[in-house]
This record gives sequence, structure tokens and C-alpha cells, in this order.
Amino acid sequence: MKVPFLDLSKMDDSLKEELQKAFKSSLDSGIFSGGKEVQSFIENLKKQLGEGYLQPLGNGTDALELALRALDIQPEDEVIVPSLTWVSTAEVVHLLGAKPIFCDTDNQGLISTNWVDLVTPKTRAIMPVHLYGKMVDMAPMCGTASKLGLAVVEDAAQSFGASQGGKASGTWGDVGAFSFYPTKNLGALGEAGACFTKSQDLAERISLFSNHGQIRRDEHLSWGRNARIDTIQASFLNVFLARFESFQKRRKTLAKNYLEALEGYEGLLLPGGVLEEDHNAHLFVIQTTRRDELKEYLHLQGIGTAIHYPKILPDLISFQAKGDFSISRKITETCLSLPLNPNMSDSDQAYVIEKIQAFFK
Ligand SMILES: Cc1ncc(COP(=O)(O)O)c(C=O)c1O
Repeated sequence: MKVPFLDLSKMDDSLKEELQKAFKSSLDSGIFSGGKEVQSFIENLKKQLGEGYLQPLGNGTDALELALRALDIQPEDEVIVPSLTWVSTAEVVHLLGAKPIFCDTDNQGLISTNWVDLVTPKTRAIMPVHLYGKMVDMAPMCGTASKLGLAVVEDAAQSFGASQGGKASGTWGDVGAFSFYPTKNLGALGEAGACFTKSQDLAERISLFSNHGQIRRDEHLSWGRNARIDTIQASFLNVFLARFESFQKRRKTLAKNYLEALEGYEGLLLPGGVLEEDHNAHLFVIQTTRRDELKEYLHLQGIGTAIHYPKILPDLISFQAKGDFSISRKITETCLSLPLNPNMSDSDQAYVIEKIQAFFK
């Protein structure tokens, strides 16, 4: 039996048909940039996220970068980022000439509350990352940041669909950045992303930067670049959004099955809070000191797993930052993401569970 970590070709036939219809409709319309599919996507996303300004973009990295540009982050400014995240979070700080200041995480991989100790007169912003789909505790973070005069850019790339106290992830900070990379809970059939903000001023700046500073055709108010979403991706995302709730339900059921079946095994630490509303069950990340051995064992049984992530960012050649990152470094040595996606069958999951139980017995 083979259970890949994720096989995006495995979607049900009715979904494939709807996507093909969306593609044909775009083809027939001849509109491949902007247009009504992008407008519908904005409205559909706002239904999920609440009132505010929504700018669809080419990908999540653009969303993070434009958020920082809209906030006018300058060279030499400092921006606090977690040491464990996808590289984009810190990369965009560097691209603006500013300095990422790395902060260790807690045991779940979320930025440590000790981040306040890293604030200096040069600090301008903090970027909480809702890693694996689990939200950072946003009310205290936003409160502290506001007192210190810092902007909050939420990296909600992995947490679309999660919320805290009824308020969606990505809507807490000054700007929220989303990725709709194909593997995400809401994923395009290619690249896509978005920024959300409640500030009209920031929304206008993000919109301008994403389209060469154009307020309308050939009227350029500032410099900018092209970070626009593809119409065709917006049309696919509209199809996926209509099924989002049922996909989320399936993810939560699969997460519950793992939690129940794998509880109590010595040497196996299960993720916390996956069933709560502030986790969207994007990834199911277990921790074990026997990680490499387990990964290889599962591989030999035909089961795909992944490591999010094998290195903390301060250890990458491109950053080489010093500091105490012992908790996040330990996660890189012990974490293993198990297959969990809406297209996974019950029998696929039962097989994965059986093999993990056998390994730890
Ligand atoms: C935490 C995090 N931030 C940013 C990104 C960047 O998104 P994209 O790949 O759409 O540029 C990702 C996507 O992988 C991510 O997981």
C-alpha cells in the first residue's frame, strides 16, 4: 500500500469537473488578468475574513513583502520574526534592506512571548507566524505591540480558516498575509496569495505597489511592480472556497483520529490544540527523538511524511544569526508531519496509524 504525504491529483471527479468548467469559462471569456473572477474572489474571501480590504496577489511571499512596504519599513529598521518558519517570513525583511531579528519559539513552534526582550529603538514591526495552522495568541501580542508602537504583520500563510474568539487569523494585525500555494488548506492550481487589512491607507498602498503604482491605466502615483493574481487562479480558488467548510471538517476528523489512536505511546509527542478553532489542521506534526528512524521506517512501508522544517532560519547560510534558539532547533530535530489532507481515505489513514503504532510498540 502507498500513502503519499500529499497527492494533489487525488481529488474527486466532481471537483475536477468544476475546475475544468471554471477553466473553460475563463478561456471563453478571454479575460486573463483582473475581471469578475477576481472581484468574486475578493467578495468570497471577505465573507470568510470579515469586513476590511482584501488585495489578491500573486503569492504569499508578495503579500508579506507588500505588507512591509505599505508599512514603510526602511533599510536598517528591525523586524522581529520567529526562528522557525518558512523562509519567506524573514526573506522579505531582508529584501527591503531591513534586519530580521530572530526570536526562539515555544514547543509548538510559535514565536516565544519573550519577543519583547528583543525590542530596540530600531524595531518597527513583528511578524507572528501561525505555524502548522495554529494561531499565536493574538490579543496579548497586538496589545503589547500597540503599546510599544510596533506594527504587526501576521503571516497567516498556513492558517487560513483558523480563528480566535471568532476573529479570523490574518485579521488581527495591521496586515495579514495569506498564501494560496497548492498545498495550503485553500490552495490554487498554481501560485496565489492575498493581503488583508482594516486600514484604508495600507490597503491603497498595497494595491498601488502590486500594480506598478497605477491608480488607473497609465496614471502612476508611485513606483511598484506586478504582484497581481492570475484571473484563472482566482476562478479556481472560487471553486475551492465553495467546498472549504467540508474540507475543513474532513481535516478535523482525520486529526481527531490520529490524536485518539496515537495517544499514550512513549516517546511520541502529539500536537496540541489541533481540534480547536484557532487551528486549521493544516499540518499534523508529531515530535519524537526517533524522528529520522521513524521517517525511514514509514518510507519503507510506502508512507510519505515531511519535515517542517529541517533547519531554523538563523542557521541558513543566507542569515547566519546568533542567539539562543534551542527550542525551535529541537523541533527541527524531532518534528515529523504525517499525511493529512481532505483527499485522504479512511483506509489510508488506518494504515498510517497501524504502522506508527507498530513502530512505537
Ligand atoms: C509560513 C509561510 N509564510 C510564507 C509563505 C509563502 O507563501 P508563497 O509560497 O505563496 O509565496 C509560506 C508558503 O509556503 C508559508 O508557509
